[in-house]
Amino acid sequence: MLRLNRTAVLVLLGTTSLLFLLFQLYYYRHYLSKHGTHASYDKSIQLDSGQHLQVVKKFLDLISRYSLAVFLVDVATLGRLSQRPAQPRGSQANEHHCSLLCSSRGFTTFAMLAKFWKYDASLAKTASELGLELLEIQGKDPRLVGLDDLSSTEIPLHLLFRSSQHLVHLVVFYERSGNYLWHGALRLKPGMDREFAPFRRLDFGRQAGAFDRPELVLSSLDGLDVWIPKNVSRFLIEHSQSRFLECRYKGARAFYQLYPDDTSPESMEFRMKAKTLLHLAAQVLTGLGVPFWLSSGTCLGWFRQCNVIPYSKDVDLGVWIKDYKPEIIQAFQTSGLPLKHKFGKVEDSLELSFQGQDVKLDIFFFYEEGDIVWNGGTQAKSGKKFKYVFPRFSLCWTELLQLRVRVPCETLDYVEANYGPTWKIPVKTWDWKSSPANVQENGVWPVREWNEVIQVY
Ligand SMILES: *[C@@H]1O[C@H](CO)[C@@H](O)[C@H](O)[C@H]1NC(C)=O
Repeated sequence: MLRLNRTAVLVLLGTTSLLFLLFQLYYYRHYLSKHGTHASYDKSIQLDSGQHLQVVKKFLDLISRYSLAVFLVDVATLGRLSQRPAQPRGSQANEHHCSLLCSSRGFTTFAMLAKFWKYDASLAKTASELGLELLEIQGKDPRLVGLDDLSSTEIPLHLLFRSSQHLVHLVVFYERSGNYLWHGALRLKPGMDREFAPFRRLDFGRQAGAFDRPELVLSSLDGLDVWIPKNVSRFLIEHSQSRFLECRYKGARAFYQLYPDDTSPESMEFRMKAKTLLHLAAQVLTGLGVPFWLSSGTCLGWFRQCNVIPYSKDVDLGVWIKDYKPEIIQAFQTSGLPLKHKFGKVEDSLELSFQGQDVKLDIFFFYEEGDIVWNGGTQAKSGKKFKYVFPRFSLCWTELLQLRVRVPCETLDYVEANYGPTWKIPVKTWDWKSSPANVQENGVWPVREWNEVIQVY
């Protein structure tokens, strides 16, 4: 009985799946006859991507012959990858099928660390034997540029490998003081082939960039073993915020010619302490995942003279109010920086001040409002409120005192808003309530709120 039944069920199942298969076949034929053009269009894209994968393969072959270590930084590929888990290495499933590295953009981007690269003149020749044309783009080595020396040597910044319309872009990353990776902007020299690559569309090189050293993992993409950033989404976020600004060394030199630097022992000591404080503040805020930028006098010092202004007495940082966390106060206290005062509240004009060794750390919280941003000020004895208004800005990386820090990318607008058109002229007597070009009176805190909004320790 049971046996018969089971056979019957199997037959029934078989018939059902056969019927289903027939239906699918019918549907597919019907679909194809209606959408035939689409199908062939997709096929031609596939063919093209297959060729692209071959070029990537050749590039990786070349790279391994020279024992160069490269990792994938291609924004489109990493974006696709972040949408799905990586294949375990050695998996054969996708050997001939290209779903990640093939690109309708026609280029794939890798990066390498300069310190692992020994220049070998035969690279271009071997590349050409593999059918790859090489274009090397050099630029100034920023690590050699400083206030003392504006000259520099040329270093390789970008290598482009091309085979017909397919391109592999290799970005050279350099380690810089402050323990971060830097890549240069891609600038063509006169006489270079402007048609060599879709330069404007490349993921890297429109401007210089700075990154944390990424942790890498070996991954199998379309059957190729490729190193990729371990945390792909973090890398993609970093990439979108990676723009790097070099200090204006020429401008700073001109400034010091007009106003020679104060190299007295007191001034040197202040700079040492400001540097220690800035490094500590960066460690605390970065540890909490709170982005910050150089603000007020500290930003002016970087922009005008590539250093801390010796008579400024404090270090000023800006933080978006949306990034405020109550843990900030505790974290600074634990690091040996007691809270000196807290003015305002999260909803309005928040400002924190911590006491370092003879140097004060001011953290101003910025509020976004339409096409402006502002931060507040509070006078403790009168309860008067002030408001400092800036045009909107985005954030860029730079380096100050061997530290990678952010500054407003539109630094001139920021500095001019704060200090007016005469920002290049040093001013030693400064009143935060009246001197700034962008200060506005903003009423008085109601007395009943004073306990909360005026806390002085
Ligand atoms: C990857 O980075 C993102 C963004 O920084 C973070 O939120 C996430 O926790 C990280 N994932 C892992 C597994 O570390």
